[in-house]
Amino acid sequence: TRRVTVRDIAAAKQRGEAWPMLTAYDALTASAFDEAGIPVLLVGDSAANCHLGYDTTVPVTLDEMVMLTAAVVRGTKRSLVVADLPFGTYQEGPVQALRSATRMVKETGAGAVKLEGGERSADSIRLLTESGIAVMAHIGLTPQSVGAFGGYPVQGRGEEAAAQLLRDAKAVQDAGAFAVVLELVPAELAAEVTRVLHIPTVGIGAGAACDAQVLVWTDMAGMTGGRVPRFVKQYADVRRVLSDAAKAYAEDVVGGAYPAEEHSFH
Ligand code: KIV
Ligand code: NA
Repeated sequence: TRRVTVRDIAAAKQRGEAWPMLTAYDALTASAFDEAGIPVLLVGDSAANCHLGYDTTVPVTLDEMVMLTAAVVRGTKRSLVVADLPFGTYQEGPVQALRSATRMVKETGAGAVKLEGGERSADSIRLLTESGIAVMAHIGLTPQSVGAFGGYPVQGRGEEAAAQLLRDAKAVQDAGAFAVVLELVPAELAAEVTRVLHIPTVGIGAGAACDAQVLVWTDMAGMTGGRVPRFVKQYADVRRVLSDAAKAYAEDVVGGAYPAEEHSFH
């Protein structure tokens, strides 16, 4: 077995093959997805919300992302591991972006990094790719900008916003990104971006025409609890399974059914 590479990803678009991406934040979950054949795993800064208990992605640090990414790399054999650069670790410009991305790939073995922003991040994407680091871009709704957006509104609605999204998509492609996430974008616009670009689009809340799809694993598997966004399809009820297991264990301990003879040493 060898790892999936950015060349495999490029070839998939040539063949018109759709592929799935999932987030992962720890070694065991990542190994399950690796075994399931998920070709690309994203150590998203959604780890802030979905793994570390923060309300937004803004507080998660590079130290935390490095630790989680290293775990996901250790847990996988075949998946290409993409690591998010968190808020505040690249916004100062290309030099800061290169310093953060270099640390990420050196200390974790990640195959690529991801950062948010189209035209505004193009210079950073260019320096990283010229320096030999594979970059996945992320445009449309960029959650690190939650303060400036005042929430998580659908992006690219209206002629002007759609034209800007197209410019952002071309800018990250021209800068050398190997793929681009389109988050919360009208399906028709995502389809147009997908047609126009030669690099793959990875949709989340961006309709069916994208070259690939990504979901946050805790949403997809029913671990999140509470409301999940409308674009999520829930494939399992992992939170219920875990909670039921915990309750059954507690009942056994309280009632004396566990440990039984076969669990004991003499
Ligand atoms: O952090 C994340 O999980 C992401 C995906 C939703 C694309 O950036
Ligand atoms: Na992210």
